[in-house]
Amino acid sequence: MKVAIIGANGQLGTDLLEISSQHHEAIPLTHSEIEISDIDNVSEVLADIHPDVVICTAAAHNVPKCELEPDVAFKINGIGSLNLAKVSNELGFKLVQYSTDYVFDGRKMNPYVESDPVYPQSVYAITKYAGEQLVMNYSTKHFVVRVSGIYGKIPCRAKGGNFISTMVKLSKEKPEVRVVMDEILTPTPTKEIAKNTMALIETDAYGLYHMTCEGEVSWYEFARTIFDILHLETPLYEASVKDFPAVVKRPFYSVLENANLKKIGMNEMPHWKPALLTFLEENYK
Ligand SMILES: NC(=O)c1ccc[n+]([C@@H]2O[C@H](COP(=O)([O-])OP(=O)(O)OC[C@H]3O[C@@H](n4cnc5c(N)ncnc54)[C@H](OP(=O)(O)O)[C@@H]3O)[C@@H](O)[C@H]2O)c1
Repeated sequence: MKVAIIGANGQLGTDLLEISSQHHEAIPLTHSEIEISDIDNVSEVLADIHPDVVICTAAAHNVPKCELEPDVAFKINGIGSLNLAKVSNELGFKLVQYSTDYVFDGRKMNPYVESDPVYPQSVYAITKYAGEQLVMNYSTKHFVVRVSGIYGKIPCRAKGGNFISTMVKLSKEKPEVRVVMDEILTPTPTKEIAKNTMALIETDAYGLYHMTCEGEVSWYEFARTIFDILHLETPLYEASVKDFPAVVKRPFYSVLENANLKKIGMNEMPHWKPALLTFLEENYK
């Protein structure tokens, strides 16, 4: 298959490109080659390629910045998704669009399944939810994939890093590190998302999917595990979200259950802890 990857030099895009190249003709598209918020550009670039599948990782997802620039967030996360959805129907390709655990408000306190009602609480989350709806309503052959707390070997371009790179940096620069224990989620390596996405695009099981590692953990426990595995000796303390000024509302519990992947027998996601161990062994040792 011909698989075009939008955001191919990003955190998730890098792994998607590497893994899709093993089995498919993979076409990397960076921001300098495509602008998803411009329908003419999307149409022209993708008509030239004629892909069987387009996987889009592009987003405005620096969460505090989205609050300050809601027009940009809507343009990229909302209109950009609509553009890809319309062009996917015109050209007949399958479309993968990634979304976020932030569509939930966290009050459920046990894992969210795809059929749970959403309650996005920030400009970022609302625009990503708009993107989901636009893809699901305008593209026939769509996979909308919600991910959470992602980390990869290439830092997230929009945020300039990921949780692991931040912890390693802080442990070197600060006398002590404080991390919140009252935000619970399931951090997931981009490599695992890329592998599972590649399996999903082989199917016609279109729809909405949660795709995170198994299990759940607080940011503090996750940091503790990273510090232990990497032997970081800087003191690490538990903190509360109340200790930090709240710029944006974030869900305090956003664990996703991969219910739809399980229904079709395609949940290959590992538990967060062995996944973290593998990632650290491959990238930090
Ligand atoms: N990071 C997380 O923890 C997290 C959690 C939940 C969901 N997600 C979702 O996961 C996806 C991938 O995240 P990531 O960490 O891989 O992001 P990333 O590293 O920031 O990569 C995004 C890529 O998209 C490109 N891009 C941005 N705006 C574009 C536009 N308007 N048109 C075309 N390309 C554009 C970026 O290029 P430039 O940098 O050159 O602009 C970059 O190559 C996003 O949809 C995000 O919302 C992430």
